[in-house]
Amino acid sequence: MADSSPSPSGAPDQPTAPLNSGGTIPLLGLGTWQAQGTEAYDATLRALQLGYRHIDTAKAYGNEDQVGRAIADSGVPRDEIFLTTKLPPNDAGKEAAVLRESLSKLGTDHLDLWLIHWPPGGAGVPTWRAFVDAQQAGSVTAVGVSNYSPEQMDELTKATGVTPSVNQIPWSPYLADPALVTAHADRGVVLEGYSPLKGGVLDDEVIGQIAQAHGRTVAQVILRWHLEHGVVAIPKSARPERIAENFDVLDWSLPASDVERIDGLSRA
Ligand SMILES: NC(=O)c1ccc[n+]([C@@H]2O[C@H](COP(=O)([O-])OP(=O)(O)OC[C@H]3O[C@@H](n4cnc5c(N)ncnc54)[C@H](OP(=O)(O)O)[C@@H]3O)[C@@H](O)[C@H]2O)c1
Repeated sequence: MADSSPSPSGAPDQPTAPLNSGGTIPLLGLGTWQAQGTEAYDATLRALQLGYRHIDTAKAYGNEDQVGRAIADSGVPRDEIFLTTKLPPNDAGKEAAVLRESLSKLGTDHLDLWLIHWPPGGAGVPTWRAFVDAQQAGSVTAVGVSNYSPEQMDELTKATGVTPSVNQIPWSPYLADPALVTAHADRGVVLEGYSPLKGGVLDDEVIGQIAQAHGRTVAQVILRWHLEHGVVAIPKSARPERIAENFDVLDWSLPASDVERIDGLSRA
């Protein structure tokens, strides 16, 4: 069940989900894939100024240094920001060195969440062991995976006794799969959705009608629908007006009837 937590630096209250290793993850964050160079810096800085407290990056995005610089320049205390980065599957076997490099580029001594970006051929048990070691050493608060099936997560749990806190997978009104929601809930894994606005959902007629009825944009309705379900959403934008638009989903809600109509759009 989503919870809400206040911020000493004045960011609005944000819904969060509890993590199986303790602590929480904000349900709304900024995605940074394909935000390069100053775009990633500008977007992250703008987002933090607006009140976002969750930033998603990855070594593969090539922008960890820009994200780190924006965090430093934002003046937002590091402990108020939930920061995620990811290990590329090709770096399996080099986990400790990659973590050191990510921490250095991000300008921080710890990650809030470190994800295996894709299964590195099989479930990647040796990589997962290295992740658990990093968590025990304190340089990573929570560890998780991305693009994993429930069965692949079970392999990690069976081998180490540690279940991923999060699985980051594609999610949108068209991709939402109730069986996957149940599979994650049963395992105590937070479902973090990516690419919430892609795949044609921004042009959907039903969501368009709902948006018009509430005086919201289609993107806002889609993101709010994620929050109503307790699914993490990390929309990416490099445009200040859209970064603001995507954040303006916290102080209103969708009626259950609209949530159900959007649920009905699933093609999974
Ligand atoms: N783990 C993985 O394998 C994986 C894979 C993909 C993504 N991700 C993560 O998830 C994040 C989000 O996914 P994504 O970047 O693929 O897709 P997304 O956030 O669903 O969509 C981004 C696209 O939508 C546009 N956009 C953003 N806000 C909008 C709005 N309010 N109205 C209209 N268009 C809008 C953006 O353009 P502008 O920038 O021009 O606004 C961009 O072209 C990524 O950035 C990344 O952090 C993870």
